[in-house]
Amino acid sequence: MKVVAINGSPRENGNTYQALKAMLDELNAEGIETEILQVGAKVIRGCISCGTCRKTKSGHCAINDYVNEAIDKMVEADGIIVGSPVYYAGINGTLKSFLDRAFYASSSKFKYKVGASVIAQRRAGALPAFDQINKYFAISEMVTVGASYWNMAFGAGEGEALQDDEGMQNMRVLGKNVAWLIKTIKEGKVEKPETEKKIKMNFIR
Ligand SMILES: Cc1cc2nc3c(=O)[nH]c(=O)nc-3n(C[C@H](O)[C@H](O)[C@H](O)COP(=O)(O)O)c2cc1C
Repeated sequence: MKVVAINGSPRENGNTYQALKAMLDELNAEGIETEILQVGAKVIRGCISCGTCRKTKSGHCAINDYVNEAIDKMVEADGIIVGSPVYYAGINGTLKSFLDRAFYASSSKFKYKVGASVIAQRRAGALPAFDQINKYFAISEMVTVGASYWNMAFGAGEGEALQDDEGMQNMRVLGKNVAWLIKTIKEGKVEKPETEKKIKMNFIR
């Protein structure tokens, strides 16, 4: 069992990382392997809407950069965690570029994987960022996990989130919940639902 955690922050050891680490430690304690993909400091351009991924159904992006490497790891994983700092009451730009491309190219391959979002903020904007990430999971038919509060931690300077006792506790709870759900799904006692052929309607025709 494996979980990949995408860190959208350019600060490798910042607050998003500390929040992710608190939850990943719980997964490790439950025998689940984890890997953090540091995305935030990379140069990742946004989706150019070329449609190549949809035409070829390759599951990869036509812009062949780190996103494709990360997609392969996400496809292999049982769970995908996405962590973001709050930038102007949303997720940070590099992470948005990454998620748009990874999910547009490979969303169908993420079906029934466990997903959780983790947010670090100085003061406000965590909830819109949390909603933003959860929408990628929902449209991919992933199973989203919550904790004892919405998955956020407070902190401004690097590492300050460690002082947010409630936030850190919440991350530990989240880690335990993610581990439980992955194990439950792995046991596979109930068949997954049949996949219906997708109906697509554009509202101008
Ligand atoms: C460009 C930019 C915009 C930000 N906007 C917000 C904001 O809207 N709300 C907020 O609470 N913090 C905001 N912050 C602060 C960060 O969210 C906060 O410092 C967070 O802990 C950073 O996480 P990190 O250490 O993982 O990078 C902003 C920071 C930057 C650099």
